[in-house]
Amino acid sequence: MPLTYSIDEIFDLGKIDAPFQRIFELALPFLKTRLNLPHTYIVYQYGQLLLQEEGGSREITIPACILHDVGWSCIPEDQQLKAFGPVIKDPESRRKHEVEGALIARQILSQVGYNSSLVQKIIEIIDGHDTTAKARSLEDATTKDSDKLYRLSAFGFRIDCERFQVDPLSYLPHLLKIIDEWFLTQTGKKMAAHEARGRDREIREREEWRL
Ligand SMILES: [Fe+2]
Ligand SMILES: [Fe+2]
Repeated sequence: MPLTYSIDEIFDLGKIDAPFQRIFELALPFLKTRLNLPHTYIVYQYGQLLLQEEGGSREITIPACILHDVGWSCIPEDQQLKAFGPVIKDPESRRKHEVEGALIARQILSQVGYNSSLVQKIIEIIDGHDTTAKARSLEDATTKDSDKLYRLSAFGFRIDCERFQVDPLSYLPHLLKIIDEWFLTQTGKKMAAHEARGRDREIREREEWRL
């Protein structure tokens, strides 16, 4: 049965830490596609958790998490589903969302007067966040792992199963199999395994998950 998602229930700008609130606020118009607002809010929260355990610069990781997907606003909705998810059929659009996202992020960060050497590092993470597999810095690793953890979150896992019409019972083992090579930090791997156990429980408890 199709679900309805209320973004208002999941997002509250007031809960974003003060130094980053204005950045998130300026990102909002660019997140009105692909359910990117709840995606970004969840990635932001994983980013906070990973920073606590893995360290790195909060001033780099958090803006990178908030701004990493603003570039999807430049890709027409009907093209997006082919450019992310379990099967990528349109790698050009996937790359384009990184390139356009880096430009938009630079504008937003300069609008808030962000330190220019930090801006450069944030932009470098955004430009390549989906198309480079390895960690290019600690902050790149925590941003990438936060982004991937979304797919195992209760919200993200369910959305992906619906979007890509995959059976949760076969999709979850697929994600479990790739955790070790996919996640870049030890904390990311641990959190992914923890989230996967939660999704496994939910699938078994809730019959309506079956497609
Ligand atoms: Fe992305
Ligand atoms: Fe993302």
